[in-house]
Formats: sequence, C-alpha cells, structure tokens
Amino acid sequence: MKLVRRIVLATALLSTCALAQPPSAHPAGEPWWKAALFYEIYPRSFADSNGDGVGDLNGITQHLDYLQQFGVDAIWITPMYPSPQVDFGYDISNYEAVDPQYGSLSDMDRLISAAHQRHLKVLLDMVLNHTSDRHPWFIASSSSRDNPKSDWYVWNDGVDTHAPGVTPFQQRYVHDGRVPPNNWESVFGGSAWQWVPARHQFYYHRFYAQQPDLNWRNPAVEKAMFAAMRFWLDRGVDGFRLDAISTLFEDPKLHNDPQLPGTNDQGDPNLRSQYSDNLPEVHDVLRRMRAMVQSYPGDRVLIGETYTPDVAELEKWYGGARHDELQLPMDTVPGFGDQANFSADWFRKSLQASQQVTGEPLIVFDNHDNARSIDRFGDGTHNVARAKVIAALLLTTRASALTYYGAPIGMVTSTPKRKQDVRDPQGITGWPKNKGRDGERTPMQWTPGFQAGFSTAQTTWLPVNGDYRTVNVQSELQQPDSLLNWYRQLIALRKSEPALRDGAMQFLDTSNANVLTFRRAGPQPVIVVMNFSNAPQPLDTSMASGRVITLAATASQLLHRTTLQGATLPPYGVWVFKPVGVTLHMAR
Ligand code: NOJ
Repeated sequence: MKLVRRIVLATALLSTCALAQPPSAHPAGEPWWKAALFYEIYPRSFADSNGDGVGDLNGITQHLDYLQQFGVDAIWITPMYPSPQVDFGYDISNYEAVDPQYGSLSDMDRLISAAHQRHLKVLLDMVLNHTSDRHPWFIASSSSRDNPKSDWYVWNDGVDTHAPGVTPFQQRYVHDGRVPPNNWESVFGGSAWQWVPARHQFYYHRFYAQQPDLNWRNPAVEKAMFAAMRFWLDRGVDGFRLDAISTLFEDPKLHNDPQLPGTNDQGDPNLRSQYSDNLPEVHDVLRRMRAMVQSYPGDRVLIGETYTPDVAELEKWYGGARHDELQLPMDTVPGFGDQANFSADWFRKSLQASQQVTGEPLIVFDNHDNARSIDRFGDGTHNVARAKVIAALLLTTRASALTYYGAPIGMVTSTPKRKQDVRDPQGITGWPKNKGRDGERTPMQWTPGFQAGFSTAQTTWLPVNGDYRTVNVQSELQQPDSLLNWYRQLIALRKSEPALRDGAMQFLDTSNANVLTFRRAGPQPVIVVMNFSNAPQPLDTSMASGRVITLAATASQLLHRTTLQGATLPPYGVWVFKPVGVTLHMAR
C-alpha cells in the first residue's frame, strides 16, 4: 500500500512539474501527422498499473497527461493483442482483442478516448506478415492438407535430401528424407522452414518458428487482415505502424537467396534477401490498404517499418509519384544507417538525402529493436552531450519525428550479462554474438523511488536499470539542463516556430567537418548549428550579420548572445537562433 501511495504521489508530482504544451497548430489542409512527434511505447515496459511486474494499458492511460505535457502528438503502441509472447507480442493469436496481461478491450477503449481528449493520436502496431503458431488460422492450417485454411500459410513439400542444388545449410534440416525447398533463413537463426508431420510439409517463417508467414497470395488473407484493421479503425485508432511490411511476399518459385561471404551473428551463412524480401506485389496490397484507411475520416496514417539502404528505395513506399501507399515510411538511414558514425559529415549527407524524398520524411533514432542511440552514438564520456545533439537532429529537421520511451531521459541499453537472463528469442539463439534486444526494452524510469516508479512488484519482467536514481523523469524535470528539459524546449520550439515545422531545409557551411549548420526557411527563418566535436568550434559568421535571438542553446554562454560575431560553439554545443532585421547570406 505504502509503495502504491508513493507511486501515486510521484505521478502527481510529474504532472505538476511539467509545463503543458499546446497541440501542434497546422496550416489549414495539412494532415495532423505532418511534422508530428510520434512516441513509441513498448507496453510491457512503460508503466505497470496492477503490480504484476509487467506494464499494461492502464499504466499508459495513467501517463497520458505526462505525454501530452511533454509535447507528444501521437503514441504508437507495440503489439498488445493476445499472444503467447514468444516475440513479445509480434506473434499474435487474436487480432481483435487485448492480451489479458495488458488489460481488456474496455481498457483499450478508455485509453483511446482519454488520449483523444488530450489531443493525442493513437497508433497500433499491425503485424501482417505472420501470426502466432497458436492463432486459430494456423492451428487449422497445420492440422491437415485439406482444411478450409490450408492455403493461408506458405507450405511446401521440401525436396529430396540429395536433390541437385541442395546446399549444406539445407541438409542440416532433414525430415523423412526431405529438406527445406531452399536456403532461406530465419532472422532469428536457422532455416526459415519448419517441418509439420501432420501435413508432411514445411511451412515458411521469416522470423521465429512460432511466427508462420501468412500466404498473401491468397485473397482471403488480405480480406481477414483488412477486417482486423477495420476493427481498430472503427474503435477510433488513428493509424498503424506496419511491421516487417517489406516481407509480405516471397518468390513463388522459391529461388535460393544469393549467398554472400561469411556468417551472420546467428552463425548462419550471409544471404542477400533477393527472393524473400521487397517483392513488388506488396505495393498492390498497400495501395488497397491506403484506400481502405483513407475511407475513414481524420487523416488516419500508415507508418512503415522500412529499413532501406537509401532514400531512392524509400520513394516506392510512398507509392512513387502517385503517393498512394504509406504516408510515412520510416527513413532509418540517418539513425541506423551508420550506427557508430557521430559526425557532422554523416548527418549532413544522410539528412540532405532525407530532404530529397517527395513525401514527408519520418526520421527515427531509437526503437525496440536497436541498441539505444545514446550508446550507439556515445563515446562513453560525452554520451548525454551527444544525445542532446541527436535530439536536436530529431526535432529541428524538416520531418515528422519518432522517438521511443526512455530516449528523452537518456535511458541506456542494459544488455543481460548472462545467457540465462535473456528474454528475447534473438538473444537466446544468437548468444553470445547477438545478445538480443532486452537491453533497449527495460522498464521506463519515472522516479528515483522503488522500481523507478514503474511497478510495485518485487520483480519486474526485465530488471530496472541501475542508473534509475539519477536517470528518471522526476529528477530530470527538476534539473534545468537535463536531457529531458532539452527535449521539452526543442519540442516547444517546434510548435511555436513555423519555420521549424514547415520551412525548407538549407544546409550551410557544408565543408565544415565539425559543425553541422542548417537554416529552416520561412518569414522568420531559424538557424541551427551543432558541434559534433569535442573541441570548441568558431562559428561561420558569414551566414548572418546583425542581431540574433537565441531560441535554445545547450550552453549558457550562448543563451544571451545577440550577434554571431566572435561566437564559439562549445564541445557538442547546439545553438538554435533566429536572425532578426539582418542580412542573411544564404547563397552557399
Ligand atoms: C519487427 C519488429 O519491430 C520486431 O520487434 C519483431 O521481432 C519482428 N518485426 C517480427 O515481427
């Protein structure tokens, strides 16, 4: 009881400390998601309202005030549907319900309506590529070769062990003298084909064996999945993040994927997924899906999990020139394309490219599948200072922005030290080379109190990281120069400065290897400068002469500056300012 009271008090404190932020004001005719800030919530880890050590929907609802005051426009909740939780929700056994450990359908309805009252949009995760092997569709499909769902998954007889062209990798998986029909691999290790004695056949699973791939060549599958999406659209959700969307279709001839030198961190041969990923048929589905989603009022949005090597590849996810597929495919190149490259040159190059897409870019530095950006871009000594630079990239670029719970307070990746503590399947099969994704999924750190204010349980599903006494929302709200307050300042600016929301991006001083500078255009332009080095850097004073007004700065010596002349950016310093009544020298 005492603990519960403490958490309630702490939550009340969080609400009073935070300053309310207005909802984004959009020029007439602009959809709400343009320049919006999306916030990804991993429900197991966000807030545990019933003390069982696992986060839940009511925990999210209890923190909506905080999210609204922080300045979020929309939340994306990773899968909260009934699931055996082999892949923590990405193995769904019922698309039209809520897993009892996260709450009930009424809890979800309450969450949606409470979010809407606060001008927050709600997006769900839609896993279309595969279901759980416990989904009634798969239970039926795997029971025999002639049941009504027999063709809902990707089944194959396999080939004779000694058939020509069979690779040594395939030969590791012999069943009744047959091996998988090709060399395709599961992302979580081993062959992507699993034998089912009842059918005397293999089924295909790009992810875990408990995640069989649906057969999207069967129109009944599309119909059923669109019905599931409608179920939630009818309940008021504002859109979906489409999981693993590029993998819906496979080559009908099941050609081997080309083999590359070496092995991956699961110990399997490296392959190029030429025949098992990015097949063009997915775009027909997306066009129909966009039309279906668009038939609902309120600019419902489709976000895609689209890891592409470059921006040119991204264009097709918008639907090319027709723009009739995803409104917001994720541009993962700046944030994940070169994970250790904290340099002005890398971000200038990748963000310049982001600006070339013909739709609204969506940039992202953190999610539940990758080590947290504070570690990836950190050098071990200046991690928080560098995280402030990353926050500025996320929030001052012309793009919609996606952040992840914990990133704004600088939660770190807390990878299990022993194999027996790993919960993520990827880490179990990949240990020790791949230790899985538990590190970026630890409980949210709300307060310096018991279990970081996440739960009243003695044990939580993953342990709270040991740094919670200093790295938590409550403490950081009270420190003016915390990472959290830096995020809040930048979010407030994004809402108050039209140039930061809509203005075109123009890169300045482009040969500077240490300082990234860009201007956001508009009647009141804004200039952003960021020092990527650990040494003070003089500013290029030729970009504006005359007076400037500081809008935000990481260093106090910049806060009161009124001109550029003689200004120096401290190590990892960020300065956001507005030139006033001056000549701008932009032709660079
Ligand atoms: C991508 C999701 O983000 C990841 O967490 C999951 O394991 C796979 N898709 C399979 O659904």
